[in-house]
Amino acid sequence: MPANPIIAPFPQTRLRRLRRSPLLRDMLTETTISAANLIWPVFVTEVEGADCDIASMPGVRRYTVDGVRAAAEHAAGLNIPAICVFPHSDQALRTESCERAWDPENIGNQAIRAIKEAVPEMVVMTDIALDPYNANGHDGIVRNGEIVNDETVECLVRMALVQAEAGADILGPSDMMDGRIGAIRAALEQHGHQGVAIMSYAAKFASGFYGPFRDAVGASGRLIGDKKTYQVNPANREEALRCVARDLSEGADMVMVKPGMPYLDICREVRDRFGAPTFAYQVSGEYAMIEGAVRNGWLSRDVVMESLLAFRRAGCDGILTYFAPEVAQALA
Ligand code: PBG
Repeated sequence: MPANPIIAPFPQTRLRRLRRSPLLRDMLTETTISAANLIWPVFVTEVEGADCDIASMPGVRRYTVDGVRAAAEHAAGLNIPAICVFPHSDQALRTESCERAWDPENIGNQAIRAIKEAVPEMVVMTDIALDPYNANGHDGIVRNGEIVNDETVECLVRMALVQAEAGADILGPSDMMDGRIGAIRAALEQHGHQGVAIMSYAAKFASGFYGPFRDAVGASGRLIGDKKTYQVNPANREEALRCVARDLSEGADMVMVKPGMPYLDICREVRDRFGAPTFAYQVSGEYAMIEGAVRNGWLSRDVVMESLLAFRRAGCDGILTYFAPEVAQALA
């Protein structure tokens, strides 16, 4: 009888040996996550009564300026190092020329100052794009149905300067116009903001996963058309890598991949190819998917931590995630 080929050759390598006990597994854990890896995106509103839960993001709410002070203190208590501010502005003040975007008194800038007052050491990050202040919901100025690049960049530079003036530590251009990183960097240097960093939304894809965010900032009903003339086609890996190379060459200090989980291949490649600090944004639609399934009892809450660990395994230094407070609490 010939030996049974399936059981006869004893395995030389039994990978299960190292999975036998909790301590062994802990000892051999390759990837870790801590609160220090988290950036918490928060929505701040100036609209009376809008400081409430966001229907498509259960568990996520908008804050008033006063509310965001308390939120910052809460985050600091959980060792979350950074908050990213997203404004929900008064609909009546949104215009085609978007001038509120660079008003030092707009709700985003009020929130930056409020957080810095409440928790001076908190790293405050911003978003640079015109959509929260734009009558048509686009990230850029629209002329004859086209999103005009260079004129938009001038607006973004003004926006960047007032955010830096308000005390922001990291500026996050999320608009995907060409040339904006270089223009913003030059303006920051000229105006004495050498220490203000830029995290470029470099590999930002034209994604359906941003839907709930657009509800949160009140841009959903307004958006005419889509953002495909400026955000990257989800099919394009090489193009995304060229965006990252370009933004780093223009002076970005850090780069972001967005959305996150469906684009982990891009995260890994960006980290390996450029070696620059790399972040992923676990966006609103990813949050909604996970939280929705957990609330329905279809998935266990363990998937929250698993999803964040996946970003770390893919090479990300940190993650922007709406789960930040929950995860920081669990890690405390
Ligand atoms: C604005 C911006 C968007 C997000 C962050 N900044 C929306 C968009 O590009 O349409 C999405 C974040 C999220 O979905 O959580 N340009």
